[in-house]
Amino acid sequence: MKHIFNKGKNPEKPTLLLLHGTGGNELDLLPLAGRIDDEASVLSVRGNVLENGMPRFFRRLAEGVFDIKDLIFRTKELNEFLDEAAMKYEFDRNNILAIGYSNGANIAASLLFHYQDAIKGAILHHPMVPRKGIDLPDLTGKSVFIAAGTNDPICSPMESAELQSLLEKANANVEIHWEDRGHQLTATEVEAAAQWYKSL
Ligand code: MLT
Repeated sequence: MKHIFNKGKNPEKPTLLLLHGTGGNELDLLPLAGRIDDEASVLSVRGNVLENGMPRFFRRLAEGVFDIKDLIFRTKELNEFLDEAAMKYEFDRNNILAIGYSNGANIAASLLFHYQDAIKGAILHHPMVPRKGIDLPDLTGKSVFIAAGTNDPICSPMESAELQSLLEKANANVEIHWEDRGHQLTATEVEAAAQWYKSL
């Protein structure tokens, strides 16, 4: 997968896996990584799917209607890419924290839904429930921060709350942060995510 890897000063820190939103690329979220942990290594990945020229992490049939077969395939592909990248760049495969926005948050949530050991935790900006009606792996020890908007037309507040509840039922520790805004990624939610990260 097309990506950027920046080695951090402190190898004890989690590697921050950055996953952009629809139409974005691996450069978009780089400033966020510095706000969360400026000593951590950063692996920023570009989604392999193109929708009218816009990179995404998996196909959708319509807005909010996911192509589940492709979601499963792309989640596996990303998980395997993490195995390869950890070997190539010599970072700890068991210490990855995903930071995703929108479509990137959805594939990060999908990693948690499908693989027990894909990531140690995640900061999910405006995520949805990636897949309904499946049993999640036991997510004991995983920490997840969700930032959601009370007026988000794409990821409804109900969907954010449902994601929180599904992750909690799988034993993850979940904190949800609400903004009285829409789908945009705000400076205040990034600050809230940074505070949450410090408390881990
Ligand atoms: C998705 O397709 O993953 C969500 O609808 C969010 C987005 O627009 O990227």
